[in-house]
Amino acid sequence: MTKSIQKPKFICRKPGPKSVKILERDAKIMSPSFTREYSFVYDHAKGNYIWDVDGRKYLDFASSVAVMNIGHTNPIVTKAIASQLKKGLHCGFTDFYAEIPLRFSEKLVSLLPKHLDTVFLSNSGTEAVECAYKCVRWHSNKKWFIAFDPCFHGRTMGSLSMTHSQPVQRDRFEPFLPVKHVPYPYSYRLDMSEKQTTAFCLAELETAFSTTKEDCAGVMFESVSGEGGYIVPPKDFVKGLRKLCSDYGVLLCVDEVQSGCYRTGSFLAIENFAVKPDIVALSKAIGSGLPLGATIANRSIMDWPSGSHANTFGGNLLACAGGLATLDFLKKKKLGTNAKRMGVLIKSKFEKFQSKSNLLGDVRGLGLMIGLEIVKDKETKEIAREERRKILCKASEKGMILLPCGKSVIRIAPPLTLSKKEALHGIEILQEAIEETEAEL
Ligand SMILES: Cc1ncc(COP(=O)(O)O)c(C=O)c1O
Repeated sequence: MTKSIQKPKFICRKPGPKSVKILERDAKIMSPSFTREYSFVYDHAKGNYIWDVDGRKYLDFASSVAVMNIGHTNPIVTKAIASQLKKGLHCGFTDFYAEIPLRFSEKLVSLLPKHLDTVFLSNSGTEAVECAYKCVRWHSNKKWFIAFDPCFHGRTMGSLSMTHSQPVQRDRFEPFLPVKHVPYPYSYRLDMSEKQTTAFCLAELETAFSTTKEDCAGVMFESVSGEGGYIVPPKDFVKGLRKLCSDYGVLLCVDEVQSGCYRTGSFLAIENFAVKPDIVALSKAIGSGLPLGATIANRSIMDWPSGSHANTFGGNLLACAGGLATLDFLKKKKLGTNAKRMGVLIKSKFEKFQSKSNLLGDVRGLGLMIGLEIVKDKETKEIAREERRKILCKASEKGMILLPCGKSVIRIAPPLTLSKKEALHGIEILQEAIEETEAEL
């Protein structure tokens, strides 16, 4: 049987000799299902920079997929992890008791809206979403869920039943759990004003509620869409969503795995819309690189009995020690305020740049969750995957790491510790990359 060898999709910056050796070994043994974008081989990182094994330095505008909100190898977090390391790694938190996961959970709850007071700990985003899904199904004793198109909630079968982003993520995995998909309020692609988008999407949602009749348990919603294209929903839509959920007795679950942890300025992105969710899924940045997920609801909703949901590694001592230091750092250093400030700076620079660029169709975002939609033509809005690939390649050649999302969007998600100087440097690199790509057309 011939082995399928995975080749990195973006081989534009020629990998150095040490990288090449690792890439060759990797291609022989690792699952070809990964979504590697670059032939970048990580060696170490510090602050807002990452180095590859050949000693090349990159400005990190991806935060290792919105995880490193406090910057890399943050000394406060490293110290907290090292100190826990000496005391032990694992206690089996769903079978025994320990203080570190408890302190982490108490700290987390102190940063959330007051009604969110009960925590379930896990190890990843998909598990945090699965927990929200199961909790809502158990509590309501109803079957249906409503999710959006596009949306991304993870890849285990419960989360994947809701995920609706790239077809390859769902192909051949049917049958799914009972989920109905309705359009995400993506004004730019729906080609509607915010007001029209709100009216259209709320009407679609209401139709989905009526077709699931009395059997709809919950709605799963990304407060700002991540993988789907860094899409910010209109405020009135989010308010209308809350109202419809309350009117129909359906629980509102928000997936803040990517948008949470001050990335958009407030701890939860949904707080920007002054809306209270019933249950929240968090992961990525709460662990600063150690696997940690958390699902939080009011105790009257997370009311399932002993044995109905548990795990082996949730509440892992190292992850919680790192998580506790992370949350302290985020709050003390007011990184939400910095995210807002740097976000305004980056967005305004690209809004100005947009009028000079034929490729930049849309600039949107909240805080340091900014999407640049690349199109072939601003009138037709034709997606421009190849142009986006070129831009990302050129930026990497100039020493900057970025990630794509959606069909032809570039996501800007640097650590929230980003300084003004680094922000301006990143903007300059990316604008040059866009200009050079445009000049080659
Ligand atoms: C919004 C959102 N939810 C869930 C997930 C799944 O998280 P994980 O990959 O840790 O399972 C992701 C991952 O990118 C995400 O962005």
